[in-house]
Amino acid sequence: MEFGVPMLSTVQSCALRGIDAVNIAVEVNSCERGDLKFIIVGLPDAAIKESCDRIFSALVNSGYAIPYTRTTVNLAPSYIRKEGSFYDLPIALGVIQSTGQSYLHNLSEFIVAGELGLSGKIRGIKGGLTFAIKAKKEKKKLLLPVEAAQEASFVDGVEIFAVNNLNEAVKFLTGQIKLVPLEHRNFLSLLKNEDSLDFSEVKGQESLRRAVEIAVAGAHNILMIGPPGAGKSMIAKRIPSIMSMPTFDEFLETMSIYSAAGLLMAEKNAHFERPFRSPHHTISNAGLLGGGSIPCPGEISLAHNGVLFLDELSEFHRATLESLRQPLEDGSVTISRSSGKVKFPCRTMIVGAMNPCPCGYLGDKTRRCKCSHLDIQRYRSRISGPMMDRFDIQINVLAVPIEDIQSKKFSESSMDIRVRVEKASKIQTERFKSSQNGRNAHMSHGEVVKFCRVDGESSDLLATAMKQLGLSARAYDKILKVSRTIADLECEEKILPHHILESIQYRSLEMVIDGR
Ligand SMILES: Nc1ncnc2c1ncn2[C@@H]1O[C@H](COP(=O)(O)OP(=O)(O)OP(=O)(O)O)[C@@H](O)[C@H]1O
Ligand SMILES: [Mg+2]
Repeated sequence: MEFGVPMLSTVQSCALRGIDAVNIAVEVNSCERGDLKFIIVGLPDAAIKESCDRIFSALVNSGYAIPYTRTTVNLAPSYIRKEGSFYDLPIALGVIQSTGQSYLHNLSEFIVAGELGLSGKIRGIKGGLTFAIKAKKEKKKLLLPVEAAQEASFVDGVEIFAVNNLNEAVKFLTGQIKLVPLEHRNFLSLLKNEDSLDFSEVKGQESLRRAVEIAVAGAHNILMIGPPGAGKSMIAKRIPSIMSMPTFDEFLETMSIYSAAGLLMAEKNAHFERPFRSPHHTISNAGLLGGGSIPCPGEISLAHNGVLFLDELSEFHRATLESLRQPLEDGSVTISRSSGKVKFPCRTMIVGAMNPCPCGYLGDKTRRCKCSHLDIQRYRSRISGPMMDRFDIQINVLAVPIEDIQSKKFSESSMDIRVRVEKASKIQTERFKSSQNGRNAHMSHGEVVKFCRVDGESSDLLATAMKQLGLSARAYDKILKVSRTIADLECEEKILPHHILESIQYRSLEMVIDGR
């Protein structure tokens, strides 16, 4: 390919910062004279510095010449650290234009990102959905690898083009070929099919089902304590099926987190249902909260707007559980790196499950518990008081009676429960329309005072419970919040004594130990 007059070329691209994209201008300048030198400046990481050989090989194998003079690539603004392989395609396009090999006259209309293979093939990148949200805001078109473009097409109102190789990208940008923008994909196409787990399969366990319904209705954290085989894990896995349908904004927010983690490309995780994450108890702090040299969201953020299920809670490292405390209060995790801070949202409902004691049968009517009081105390002390306090609802689960197991009757289906949950959710949306919090569980102390007024009888009930159970001030607020949700489920404006009484039951874990 012939060289024309060298010039400065600018290609618009993006960098991922948490779940947001920021503009990066890829400037390429080829000098008229001088020895071949290819320099990338603007705080690139090692992967970007290494991209030079990849880009040169892709250029040659696609029929273009590599620059034979000094060429400088500047990734601006220079104060943002650039990571990953997003810039291969923008740099290659910049080189082709700046060396005068082709004039890409449509380039300024696009945000471009993609990794190049040695043959010139364009490989996938993460963050497609995030880039699309950015392109929409910037009123730009988007040029991406195929998989990332498919992911991006969930965003309406932005023209997204998918390219397979460098040649195709150049021909498209010079107007030699025409490409059709990807069709916008409706997120409703991602509704899970009928094989979803359903509450109708759960026999008996009426009080646990009730507690779970309340927890879901108000987004309260719930801890289930019971013997092996009682159905704790079974019920937890069915929780997303009774949660209110996510709004499109919630769906996009959750999917942006998956996109930033590179988990959306294969689409396996793209369901229009709330996420359900169930990390193993051996998980590290970084795995749970997020981390890595290029900050990646952890399980708590992947569960944003959904459920984080901590099965066998007592087996988790105490320090790992403790690290959850602050993010749970804040609804977001901040990861600090030398390159800056990245914030990931993590408004999630925590569902915990554990046995009541090491042998698992404390409180069981049919089997005798073999554990000493000390064994039980030691077992329980693996979860600190403050952590336990964060479970608004703590419920003691009993084994399923044989009559219930053999019963031919189907229990209430998830769809029926969801109707009630949706109703309670609507009341909360109305209540918190001028506040940042959307659900009863996330009320600030001021909001508890405002929305959870109680009469004299309820006040006395609360005082007695506080004294007898030795509850904290946080627990006091939590009882009120749960009572608010119970009242909402009944579409009752006032919190009544029976709402308070039911709510107090869900803080009575201590009684289980002493009542053996
Ligand atoms: N209420 C129930 N209705 C129908 N089946 C049930 C019920 N409870 C348990 N089962 C059956 O028992 C199996 C084991 O239940 P599950 O794994 O939920 O117990 P678990 O309470 O989590 O026990 P563990 O403490 O050992 O983890 C389920 O897969 C299901 O087949
Ligand atoms: Mg289990």
